[in-house]
Amino acid sequence: MIITSAKFSTSCPSVDKCPGGEPRHEYAFIGRSNVGKSSLINMLTGQKGLAMTSSTPGKTMLINYFLINDSWYIVDLPGYGYAKRSKTDRDRIDRMIKNYILGREQMTNLFVLIDVRHKPQHIDLEFMQWLGENGIPFSIVFTKLDKLSSLAVKKAIAAYCDVLRESWEELPPIFATSSEDGRGRVALLDYIEELNRLPL
Ligand code: GTP
Ligand code: MG
Repeated sequence: MIITSAKFSTSCPSVDKCPGGEPRHEYAFIGRSNVGKSSLINMLTGQKGLAMTSSTPGKTMLINYFLINDSWYIVDLPGYGYAKRSKTDRDRIDRMIKNYILGREQMTNLFVLIDVRHKPQHIDLEFMQWLGENGIPFSIVFTKLDKLSSLAVKKAIAAYCDVLRESWEELPPIFATSSEDGRGRVALLDYIEELNRLPL
């Protein structure tokens, strides 16, 4: 798919404030703080400053909508489980994320981002478990591939899949990306294009 336009649309504090009207396909990006959600959105759209990125974790606090090709949305969600946030903030954001995921019917696929350098973390596995239990369609996107050699990437993804197989019979679609060098861009956009063809 070719992206001809990508525009910031709106920021919402809760799912009931998300865009109304005729539903469009939307794809949300989630993962722990600093995993590279906003950077990946910028890489996919080819617009560096579109989603706000930061080396300080916890930057994204709202549900941010970007309208792509005037027809579908990319949604940048706040990172979950950021330890340096107050408990009140963390609980508020966790509730907001979960209400969005459970309540937003046009959310066609959730991309769960995992830093390829990290061993499987309880918080991510538990989150994916929760998605499975609630029947939410999701894919895994490994990020920051440029930080490892290609052999180390292969090993890390294979080891991650081994852990997933302990609780999943069938694995979700898996993508491997780098926002630095653009790896994975075509595969992700092709996947979205395919899903965009399905009726809502
Ligand atoms: P929050 O909004 O705080 O939850 O973070 P986020 O998941 O949106 O992460 P963000 O895109 O802001 O990136 C966090 C840091 O990782 C920034 O310093 C990025 O430059 C860096 N980063 C993100 N993706 C990549 C990547 O593919 N390669 C490299 N080398 N760095 C990356
Ligand atoms: Mg962000």
